[in-house]
Amino acid sequence: MVKICCLGAGYVGGPTMAIIALKCPAIEVVVVDISSARIAAWNSDQLPIYEPGLDEVVKSCRGKNLFFSSDVEKHVLEADIIFVSVNTPTKTRGLGAGKAADLTYWESAARMIADVSRSDKIVVEKSTVPVKTAEAIEKILTHNTKGINFQILSNPEFLAEGTAIQDLLNPDRVLIGGRETPEGQKAVEALKAVYANWVPEDRIIATNLWSAELSKLAANAVLAQRISSVNAMSALCEATGADVTEVAYAVGKDSRIGPKFLNASVGFGGSCFQKDILNLIYICECNGLVEVANYWKGVIKINDYQKSRFVNRVVSSMFNTVSGKKIAVLGFAFKKDTGDTRETPAIDVCKGLLGDKANISIYDPQVTEDQIQRDLSMNKFDWDHPPHLQPMSPSAIKQVSVVWDAYEATKDAHGVCILTEWDEFKTLDYQKIHDNMQKPAFIFDGRNIVDVEKLRKIGFIVYSIGKPLDSWVKDLPAAA
Ligand code: NAD
Ligand code: UDX
Repeated sequence: MVKICCLGAGYVGGPTMAIIALKCPAIEVVVVDISSARIAAWNSDQLPIYEPGLDEVVKSCRGKNLFFSSDVEKHVLEADIIFVSVNTPTKTRGLGAGKAADLTYWESAARMIADVSRSDKIVVEKSTVPVKTAEAIEKILTHNTKGINFQILSNPEFLAEGTAIQDLLNPDRVLIGGRETPEGQKAVEALKAVYANWVPEDRIIATNLWSAELSKLAANAVLAQRISSVNAMSALCEATGADVTEVAYAVGKDSRIGPKFLNASVGFGGSCFQKDILNLIYICECNGLVEVANYWKGVIKINDYQKSRFVNRVVSSMFNTVSGKKIAVLGFAFKKDTGDTRETPAIDVCKGLLGDKANISIYDPQVTEDQIQRDLSMNKFDWDHPPHLQPMSPSAIKQVSVVWDAYEATKDAHGVCILTEWDEFKTLDYQKIHDNMQKPAFIFDGRNIVDVEKLRKIGFIVYSIGKPLDSWVKDLPAAA
């Protein structure tokens, strides 16, 4: 029986290994983590992450050929293939702070693999890493061995949160990069054989190591660039009376462009896009490619602009002040169908509103009060670092309350900000919400999910990203 061990039981390691176990009954998969709390959660009824369909897959394989364990060294020792899916956050201090990837966790994982191993192993980079990382990892592994052969493969993960199970079951492609030596190619074939249990052969792409590593950063940069492009257009739409949804539809109909990932929003969030583009920028700078670095910086700048533009629109529409006013925030996660709040635009929007002394009442179906208070207290980039860097029990920000119901959040509010596109926000009883709000009642839709005409008929003043403006909003000073 082939044995797989995965280091890192997070958003990638957990779901990916669950699908490998589901599709490969002849393989034993053990997911290990340095966080025993996380492992305990994977072994309980309350999994540590929310992902549609994940519960069923884990429950059907756990205890059969899928195991979660804190005994990291034992399972590394026994494994034939080791996936490394640890976090690779943005560095917060030292050389490259605020841009470069922090490979501390990766390096310590590699050192541990070198120390513990007694037999040949394939080590798979699953985490997103800077191009050329495999070379450094190879050095760590080979300098510590006792005649053991390690083959490093790059097998970046393309799943998106909220659709992880579907993405894993039916991937557009699986990318495997390896050394162009006979041993390297043998390792590529061994990993291909795992995926071939359910992925059609023509979707499994073999490349050299550096292409695989760079393709992951490149894919995320291009995806984020599409959102920043459409968000930049949304500002111009508001200034001219064009409708960004119509523009995006017309643009996306061009088969060279395609319709996906052109939804204007309050800004992209999540643990990957910003981190990976910053990493790309740093790599460009290290290679002396200042112009290329500046090109990608533009994608991040537009994203930051979109978030502050939204806050400015809220404040300027509400008579230039939200001081002491109750603002309801519907949705805090970075997208629907996840409880993940890493780099969610809601953090910057809430901080912006708090800066103008608003009282905020937040409702998200999957995010806890503790998490929200922690996110609003934390410094940028600290979320992806060990708990000792994070406020353990943040002193609650008094201007923020977290409630478990959209009607409670909006009661007596002056304005509502929709920051995550949860389906349930589309079908709320907006008449009831309007009845219980202060007047005039404002809605700022950061995800373009509400029926603007219907809400205007009820009596709301509505702002949607990139849509023709309500005369109320229009006549106010430019929100930029
Ligand atoms: P995560 O923080 O959810 O999980 C990482 C886990 O690794 C944590 O539980 C941590 O305790 C554990 N860990 C750290 N050092 C360890 C060690 N030495 N041994 C064992 N466990 C260790 O992160 P994630 O979202 O799963 O992302 C992991 C990697 O995958 C990152 O490089 C990320 O960029 C990449 N990625 C993420 C996504 C996504 O949607 N989240 C998608 C594709 C790729
Ligand atoms: C992303 C990549 O899509 C995935 O391939 C990679 O493996 C990890 O990073 P993820 O961050 O989980 O996945 O979610 P994604 O669906 O890409 O959304 C990222 C952000 O962009 C979210 O905040 C989302 O709301 C926003 N977004 C997405 C838009 O604002 N408009 C869009 O059209 C699409």
